[in-house]
Amino acid sequence: MTRKKLNQSTETKTASTPFVFEYSPAPQETNIVKIEKKNKLFIDGKFVAPKSGKYFATLNPATGEKLADLAEAGKQDVDLAVKAARKAYKNVWSKISGEERGRYLFRIARLIQERAREFAVLETLDNGKPIKETRDIDIPLVAAHFFYNAGWADKLNYAFPGHQVSPLGVAGQVIPWNFPLLMAAWKIAPALATGNTVVLKPAETTSLSALLLARIFQEAELPDGVVNFVTGAGETGAELVAHKDINKVAFTGSTDIGKSIVQATAGTNKRLTMELGGKSAHIVYEDAAIDQAVEGVINGIFFNQGHVCCAGSRLLVEESIQDIVVKKLKRRMEELRVGDPMDKNTDIGAINSKEQLNKIHSLVKKGREENPDFFESSCPLPKKGYFHRPCFFNNAASSSTVSRVEIFGPVLSISTFRTPDEAIAKANDTNFGLAAGIWSEKGSKIHKTALGLKAGIIWANTYNKFDPTSPFGGYFESGFGREGGRHGLLPYVEVNS
Ligand code: NAI
Ligand code: MG
Repeated sequence: MTRKKLNQSTETKTASTPFVFEYSPAPQETNIVKIEKKNKLFIDGKFVAPKSGKYFATLNPATGEKLADLAEAGKQDVDLAVKAARKAYKNVWSKISGEERGRYLFRIARLIQERAREFAVLETLDNGKPIKETRDIDIPLVAAHFFYNAGWADKLNYAFPGHQVSPLGVAGQVIPWNFPLLMAAWKIAPALATGNTVVLKPAETTSLSALLLARIFQEAELPDGVVNFVTGAGETGAELVAHKDINKVAFTGSTDIGKSIVQATAGTNKRLTMELGGKSAHIVYEDAAIDQAVEGVINGIFFNQGHVCCAGSRLLVEESIQDIVVKKLKRRMEELRVGDPMDKNTDIGAINSKEQLNKIHSLVKKGREENPDFFESSCPLPKKGYFHRPCFFNNAASSSTVSRVEIFGPVLSISTFRTPDEAIAKANDTNFGLAAGIWSEKGSKIHKTALGLKAGIIWANTYNKFDPTSPFGGYFESGFGREGGRHGLLPYVEVNS
């Protein structure tokens, strides 16, 4: 290992000259996972070929190469999955006790832990996020969500004191590609704990970890049909949410598709939860511990390539410290390693798809036309695959595209404020309301600011910390309903008396 100045120029070492430790490559072995060439649907406890007869490819975004073919579920396949879930609901899952449901969930959680490395590698291959994130964040949280909800299964009377609750029936769930297995866990674990059965559609670019989860369900001897996976793209998702025999739709994804699902289900009896986009603000006051705040801002926007619905994509910094914060941000960004997600030292992996990379490129281009005060890390990018350098727009107007549109990439917009009231007003000046971060050494200032913010999740002196005991969800165009915590059980039950 050698310590080396990143910029190979003649400049002397200053506080703003970044240094990186050059590590030898430390790639994670990938032969721990076995990927079937042609994958089937998971219906009624078995892997079955699609009646549609159609398949499509899933790629490794770090190379652009094909990993496998996935089945494309058509109308008839979705119908078979819903029928299996209904049968399992009627005959088994609604009949057994909460304690028994809990036992299955505990077993699933333990099996996920046992095969955690395999899940992490598979997720990184299919999604492009760094192995250190799948290994240390995604997969441990997946197991934690199953453990946490397992604990509630026989204690629902305590979750809703004084009330009797009953399950809704069959839940149709549609999830995105940014946290593939974690979103599956967020949706499946509370649904099963409360006595519902599930048909879930993973995102078309990241379905492989759900199919491995199906094998865990088989190993745990989860009764057939309790969880079914239908792979496919938007059309499959639309078939699922439109199916007459589902009682509940849970969706995480883009605001546009969320709105179309709300419209498509209007007038039906289906209960909805929508977890949509965000344009979350980080407020950094001049009394904040600046180095920690900079680290938090970096984590808030560059974690998972910015593919995070609650990403802290707008930095609001107190005017008096703008210059020092911007200088420190640049220095830290130059140290971020962008590249092979399978390397244990990589900080920023691959953008999930070519489409998403094109979307980021076009928004950055538009941003540069509107605001030339642009900084991009100088790191080299791999020759193959879909990658984007971490970057920011300084002094971005609140009305500019990069301050208003969810980019879903490693792109930050920075603007300033002078008073707490101005910070609150600017943070709330968005169509979204998912998350916010406040950085200050003064507790009273943090509380006052938090009370003024319209955001479902507010972090103080930290960011992007997730915990299964904490409810998660937004205001306005960020959606409605909560996932996680005791609150996350409510969307899956009928409160009877
Ligand atoms: P998307 O909203 O199209 O996809 C999310 C899921 O919905 C996928 O499983 C997809 O197959 C499914 N879907 C698509 N059309 C559907 C329909 N009509 N009915 C039912 N299900 C449908 O998101 P996409 O196209 O992958 O990404 C576009 C943008 O959305 C991103 O650039 C980002 O800004 C945002 N996004 C936000 C997410 C979040 O967690 N808030 C997650 C993913 C994307
Ligand atoms: Mg993929």
